[in-house]
Amino acid sequence: MSRTTVRLRFAGALAATLVAAGVATGPAAQAQERTPGLADLAHRHGRYFGSATDNPELTDSAYTKILGSEFDMITPGNGMKWENTEPQQGVFDWSKGDEIVKLARANHQKVRAHTLVWHNQLPAWLTSRDWTPAELRAVLKKHITTEVRHYRGKVYSWDVVNEAFNEDGTYRDTIWYRTLGPGYIADALRWAHEADPHAKLYLNDYNIEAVGPKSDAYYNLVKQLKAEHVPLDGVGFQAHLALQYGYPTTIEDNLRRFSRLGLDTALTEVDVRMQLPATDDKLAEQATWYADLTKACLAVQRCVGVTVWDFTDKYSWIPGVFAGEGAALPWDEQLRPKPAYQALRDALGG
Ligand code: G3I
Repeated sequence: MSRTTVRLRFAGALAATLVAAGVATGPAAQAQERTPGLADLAHRHGRYFGSATDNPELTDSAYTKILGSEFDMITPGNGMKWENTEPQQGVFDWSKGDEIVKLARANHQKVRAHTLVWHNQLPAWLTSRDWTPAELRAVLKKHITTEVRHYRGKVYSWDVVNEAFNEDGTYRDTIWYRTLGPGYIADALRWAHEADPHAKLYLNDYNIEAVGPKSDAYYNLVKQLKAEHVPLDGVGFQAHLALQYGYPTTIEDNLRRFSRLGLDTALTEVDVRMQLPATDDKLAEQATWYADLTKACLAVQRCVGVTVWDFTDKYSWIPGVFAGEGAALPWDEQLRPKPAYQALRDALGG
């Protein structure tokens, strides 16, 4: 069925959804000849609209069609993490990250690269022995320098340090903090900047959407880093939300106070999970949350874009981690758009 035929057969929002979801090429280039996707709508506001993806899903052609047509920013959900990119000390493997960069390029999409310094998904060679501070510093510098150089000129941004703080705003006790002290964050940013001066460098975390002790910790750290002229471009607010914990109503004010420090902000890993089964009421509330998150970003000048942590419940990380919860994304397990999808379109003025 041609795109024109599809257009003639269906009317209204459902048709828009199907047409947009069925086009495999890049969103911006196609905007003139088909119903705009989320990225096209976001583009009108000077924002991007992105999705995470992961290598195993890329064989699913119904999935990659939507990935290629609705989004203009891609984040590798796992492919650029340390366990994948340096599985043995000094032995680098770019295959997973490269596959996603290549796909993004084919679809005229940018890449939010994720992530260089984290406490999860580290290889055993790194976690199974003790390191002196000098040794670990050298290991970290080599990893950052090599990975960022490899992707130099190919990615829009890097989540340089991921999830550095506890809920109460104290530093998380990780191999990095324990061995190197809090200075590892500034060091990581400086090494990343040396390796790719044009990539936007981010700190990224969850549960920092609202004003509170954890987002205050970032606010204070950012002020300090800026005062020390450490290269830092943005803060990523992951926004892994759950209906049962309530909406972070201070998110807009919070994004704005970071913008006022001279930083970009972004919603980087959005999903809105619920206790299963999903009901019409819960899906309607979820749709409102997706819209409100998007409107909060649009309301803050330096909030540069929104990324969902994959777009379909078929590939969401939630059910594997939170038993009895799920249905967190704007497309269902059959790749059908949910009320959240239409709410996103509406929030973006589509
Ligand atoms: O690669 C192995 C595979 O060999 C094995 O057969 C399979 C069996 O379970 O596991 C595979 O590894 C899984 C990996 O994803 C790759 O699929 C891990 O078990 C699984 O724990 C891992 O989950 C990832 C999670 O980070 C780990 O912390 C999720 O896919 C990924 O979406 C998630 O992403 C994080 C962000 O990086 C940071 N913010 C939170 C977000 C959600 O946890």
